[in-house]
Amino acid sequence: MCGIVAATAARNIVPVLIEGLLKLEYRGYDSAGLALLNPTLTRLRSVGRVAELAAQAEGQVAHHGIAHTRWATHGVPSERNAHPHVSAGLAVVHNGIIENYAELKQELIAAGYAFTSDTDTEVIAHLIQETLKSSADLFEAVQRSTARLIGAYAIAVLREWDETIVVARHGAPLLLGLGQGEDGGNYAASDASALLQVTRRMIYLEEGDVAELRRDAIRIVGAGGTAVERPAHESTLSADDVELGEYTHYMQKEIFEQPQALAATLELIGGAQAISPNLFGVAAPEMLGGVRSVLVLACGTSFHAGLVARYWIEQLAGIPCSVEIASEYRYRASVPNPEQLVVAISQSGETADTLASIKHAKAQGMGRTLAICNVPESAIVRECALRFLTRAGPEIGVASTKAFTTQLAALFLLAVTLAKQSGRLAPEQETSYLAALRHLPVAVQKVLALEDAIKAWAERFADKQHALFLGRGHHYPIALEGALKLKEISYIHAEGYPAGELKHGPLALVDKNMPVISIAPNDALLEKLKSNLKEVAARGGELYVFADADSVVDEEPGVHILRLPEHYGLLSPVLHVVPLQLLSYHVALVKGTDVDKPRNLAKSVTVE
Ligand code: F6R
Repeated sequence: MCGIVAATAARNIVPVLIEGLLKLEYRGYDSAGLALLNPTLTRLRSVGRVAELAAQAEGQVAHHGIAHTRWATHGVPSERNAHPHVSAGLAVVHNGIIENYAELKQELIAAGYAFTSDTDTEVIAHLIQETLKSSADLFEAVQRSTARLIGAYAIAVLREWDETIVVARHGAPLLLGLGQGEDGGNYAASDASALLQVTRRMIYLEEGDVAELRRDAIRIVGAGGTAVERPAHESTLSADDVELGEYTHYMQKEIFEQPQALAATLELIGGAQAISPNLFGVAAPEMLGGVRSVLVLACGTSFHAGLVARYWIEQLAGIPCSVEIASEYRYRASVPNPEQLVVAISQSGETADTLASIKHAKAQGMGRTLAICNVPESAIVRECALRFLTRAGPEIGVASTKAFTTQLAALFLLAVTLAKQSGRLAPEQETSYLAALRHLPVAVQKVLALEDAIKAWAERFADKQHALFLGRGHHYPIALEGALKLKEISYIHAEGYPAGELKHGPLALVDKNMPVISIAPNDALLEKLKSNLKEVAARGGELYVFADADSVVDEEPGVHILRLPEHYGLLSPVLHVVPLQLLSYHVALVKGTDVDKPRNLAKSVTVE
């Protein structure tokens, strides 16, 4: 979603702003813009790629500036709706949604302000301008104006003849970068990747913080209205983590990084002989002890990880587990259970619905909360009592891949931990699960070797309008995930179904134009699945089967089979999702879509 970069420094900050926006491109956007002080305001905006804005900004020099990539919410993608929005020499960039913008707009129109865009952001610019009539100090005007906003925002504000940049956040991410070395300066951005070019020292702003950036100083005032000190962290992100390197697309890079991502995530179990609840935080032994049910909250791909976890938790720990889409749970009248463990799964840690759902659970007295997340210090991590940080590294491609498999590794550890706490884990089982986890990176590496065969299959999908993904048991969520991947990056309509459900409806869709992708591991449900596949073949459907080396299924006309090198028992979903990721990637390549930035989608969904 929208990305913000702000900079004040002795150096020319225009290249810093542009480079920062390029690093934030992955979040998804449709237009971009920036405002520079020279010492009057110069505003540049463009629809489309940051490269177009960069061309416009060629030759500009400035020491204070704010910049933005916009993902349209209020108003179509257009230059007039692109940020920054200005009000008489004052410029604002904004990430989030202002829910009371309509009433503020009426008030400001009545006060004589003319609006030139359809955005909610323009309201913020005029509101600060109006507040400046009664307090000349920009910092105070931002504090007083943001106090009137309802909704989510991260903003950066700049005004002519003023050498400060004021930023504020509430419900949307924003961090500060503290300049180092001769060039110094101070910076702000939506995420660390935008600022690695100038600094590694970052301060994560808290909810309700307002901060002032000067070239040589910063000051932060917390939600309570008093000055606060926030700790500075040394970012461990490496610039290489956010570079493409030898790859053509981030999605491709991230698919192939899965062995390392899993190894890094599982480093925590190292050479351990036993699984300890401390993996989930110091309070975990007490908090997880006596857990009798689990509620998982998540969106999209993270929701699918939760669905796999349900099979694991119920089978291994013998405790009930429900999995809810966060945007539904937060508004539904559910029955609270204060003893339940609530698990929020999120790659970004900033997904607005997941964050709100965890707050909703807490408000209902459910305090045993655990975040499984890829971004330390993110809002969801901070909201939960316990945490497990996956170590997938930055995920830039909009379609989630390595975050998913590392979430699965973390959730398997959770299931085993709960099983142990429930007294249902025999020592030899524990040893064998630990061994299977440790071997996982190597097993995934072997699956990646199927790429060439999958590429050949992908050619046959390019002219298809629809596809069906089938799985059973803990591979049913993998069918859902395969369908989501295909639809989001290749724009082919795809649905995931539990194979046993086929004859209750979707079989009606099957004909020679409908490819049916099936996950056929060599498990207890294979024979059942084979009957389902016969139903497809009998209707002329073209079957693409991902089996295991030893699955007894035969190639025949209309039935194509690729075999994964080994059967992986309970952890098989981690392996079987990988060929589906590769299939989507290669179908998208054949179709020529924008793999890393599919249309209409954003990476971090920080608005509802
Ligand atoms: C799909 C995808 C999305 C995210 C969803 C949740 O490939 O990436 O469905 O999984 O937006 O995002 P996080 O995990 O950041 O909360």
